[in-house]
Amino acid sequence: MSMQAADKDAVADSLALVAERCADPTPLVYARLFAQSPDMEALFVRDSDGSVRGQMLYQVLETLLDLTGAGTYGANLIRCERVNHENLGVPPDVFASFFTTVMETFRALLGPDWTPAFDAAWSALLAWVQAVMNPVVEPGRP
Ligand code: HEM
Repeated sequence: MSMQAADKDAVADSLALVAERCADPTPLVYARLFAQSPDMEALFVRDSDGSVRGQMLYQVLETLLDLTGAGTYGANLIRCERVNHENLGVPPDVFASFFTTVMETFRALLGPDWTPAFDAAWSALLAWVQAVMNPVVEPGRP
């Protein structure tokens, strides 16, 4: 399994459009996360100014760009953070759901400008992320 070049480009294009439309999507992403998984909000108790939330989202987006680009570190970072987060109190299925939450937030944000190509590309990306987290065999590079 791997991602097609056109899908990688479409994911990057969607992120660029989100950045153009919204200076900081952090509050939207976390509002959606806490609506879906209310128990998670308490884990951010030490994040009084929201900077950890912002930093985490930034890292997630960088990781997704890596998976759609050079693919040098994203897969390993996701596997490490999944274990680190389990120790913080984030169940692995909730950890995995964050990537979908990000997609849903961006889809809502772009509204009619979320294209079928973006949709197909994000489906491929989310499937790839699942494969990275639950490898049946070593998935290799995207
Ligand atoms: C719903 C899923 C998730 C929850 C509830 C969650 C929760 C948290 C919390 C509570 C912290 C702060 C820890 C602290 O107080 O020190 C944190 C930090 C972090 N998370 Fe997540 N996380 C989730 C998903 C992810 C994902 C998918 C990634 C990326 C692969 C990720 C990467 C990080 C990183 C890199 C930090 C450190 C940020 C910094 O302080 O520099 N998280 N996360």
